[in-house]
Amino acid sequence: MDNAVSNEVRFLHAIELGLGAWSWGDRVVWQYGRGYTDDDIRQAFQASITEGIRFIDTAEVYGSGRSERMTGQFLKETDQPVLVATKFFPMPWRLTKDSIPSALKRSLDRLGLEKVDLYQIHWPTPLLRIERMMEGLVACVDKGWARAVGVSNFDQPQMLRSYSALERKSVPLASNQVHYSLLNRKVEKNGLLARCKELGIRLIAYSPLEMGLLTGKYTPANPPPGSRGGRYASLIQKLAPVLKLMTEIGQDHGGKSNAQVALNWVICKGALPIPGAKNAAQALQNAGALGWKLTDEEMAKLDEVSDKTAQ
Ligand SMILES: NC(=O)c1ccc[n+]([C@@H]2O[C@H](COP(=O)([O-])OP(=O)(O)OC[C@H]3O[C@@H](n4cnc5c(N)ncnc54)[C@H](OP(=O)(O)O)[C@@H]3O)[C@@H](O)[C@H]2O)c1
Repeated sequence: MDNAVSNEVRFLHAIELGLGAWSWGDRVVWQYGRGYTDDDIRQAFQASITEGIRFIDTAEVYGSGRSERMTGQFLKETDQPVLVATKFFPMPWRLTKDSIPSALKRSLDRLGLEKVDLYQIHWPTPLLRIERMMEGLVACVDKGWARAVGVSNFDQPQMLRSYSALERKSVPLASNQVHYSLLNRKVEKNGLLARCKELGIRLIAYSPLEMGLLTGKYTPANPPPGSRGGRYASLIQKLAPVLKLMTEIGQDHGGKSNAQVALNWVICKGALPIPGAKNAAQALQNAGALGWKLTDEEMAKLDEVSDKTAQ
């Protein structure tokens, strides 16, 4: 493991695959209540745990707190140790650094925990200076409420400011959670991934399945439901060559699914994917991204076809 990684955050670099909990209670994007039930979600959690997944990512805003509450309930029902990450959302009325530990306290109550393993700033905001936000995160560590702290959706300059502000307080910046998939490689092209590796910051890849597109189940004739339909109206028209290659490569590895190839690609790039799962079947399949590796040649071929398609 890299020398740049501080001992306090080494645990995050040892995790290969996590589980995202945005859809657990979210009606706006994921249509919670339609097509999947609380019991499906519980089974998604349990299947992941059975498969050895030990890192779950939620946020105070997911389902307006429901995702954290469900996660808390599931944690009570398992005897397995699970690392929990959640996030602070910079609402426009949260104008002081103290709002950060206050929000974390409420997240801890919903999660039924005394401490989270990772507390992240969900988005940067012009309303609260990065240095003040980092002071708020340091307070969370000092109070013993967060084992490690990170950011999300921060570009390189914002991340470097965060890193330096935390470093002055001897707290490492553990992670930056950003959009990264075979169909969205901005962080690779703009140098953010490389900078993360250089500084020992774990890049956590959100939407690693491109919100379901990379599973291959959506086509121009069968677009994803809800707001995803509009969001991906153009990209879905260009997907076929990527999916074809993923399927061929998956077959060469004994029948790996497109989702498994997509997640393995992120892992091979040195990032930590946190795919969302709404039911046990999805969770089980996603866990099958572990235990094997794409070859350098396959990675190069996937990069090439995605270059012609990706944002
Ligand atoms: N920090 C941020 O701003 C931010 C933003 C976005 C996400 N995130 C985090 O990243 C996590 C993952 O991202 P995401 O949920 O946006 O997208 P994703 O992981 O790319 O896709 C998840 C969705 O794909 C479908 N799916 C998952 N596994 C499948 C499988 N094996 N077979 C078929 N379909 C499958 C499911 O939706 P359907 O069945 O409905 O297709 C599922 O909800 C989130 O849960 C959240 O924790 C963070």
